[in-house]
Amino acid sequence: MGFNVAIDGPAGAGKSTIAKAVARELNLIYVDTGAMYRAVALYMLREGVDLADGEKVAGKCPEAAVTIRYEDGVQVVFLNGENVNAFLRTEEVGEAASVISPIPQVRKNMVALQKSLAAESDCIMDGRDIGTCVLPDARLKIYLTASSDVRARRRYDELTAKGESCELDKIKADIEDRDYRDMHREESPLRKADDAIVVDTSDMNAEEAIAAVTGLCRSAR
Ligand code: DC
Repeated sequence: MGFNVAIDGPAGAGKSTIAKAVARELNLIYVDTGAMYRAVALYMLREGVDLADGEKVAGKCPEAAVTIRYEDGVQVVFLNGENVNAFLRTEEVGEAASVISPIPQVRKNMVALQKSLAAESDCIMDGRDIGTCVLPDARLKIYLTASSDVRARRRYDELTAKGESCELDKIKADIEDRDYRDMHREESPLRKADDAIVVDTSDMNAEEAIAAVTGLCRSAR
């Protein structure tokens, strides 16, 4: 196996910002696994599937073929051949991904795809179950976290910067709901792998967090 880094943690801890920057710095491929679950969720939303109906979602899974390509180091997600990157980062799709991701039929193909991407290239992969399930032998595992207040504030700033109107309290409540769902599901719940290093970014800015994770990767390489 090559050099693989697993980063897990709750929504809004800064996983993707940090992993993207570290990947550039260390010439690794950044594999965003949340985007894959989001693509399946997008399919279910477009098809009008009742997300609360697990059997219905599971039955529709074979219709949603997710493939990945890397173009200039950027991950491009294809849903049945269509580049869907532009549709994945909304709150609606993120919520839907959190609701359908506990379904085993949803996870099975995603985990296989993620393992094969890691086998092909040196990568830094982020998600919820990377250190515990997808890459149990990763050279380095990081559990990236931050308080829910800080994570809500970051998401609020991100959304308002994009011109979307939102309320801080509502965002915090949504983040806490999402944490609960991701940590308490039966199938591959979010938890720190026993051998993961915890990085708490509550009191770090992006540059500091990137430097901390880059340092850990350099030492592990
Ligand atoms: O990281 P994200 O916000 O893009 O992920 C969206 C949802 O997808 C998240 O709430 C739970 C699910 N997910 C998962 O179950 N396993 C992963 N490895 C990545 C994401």
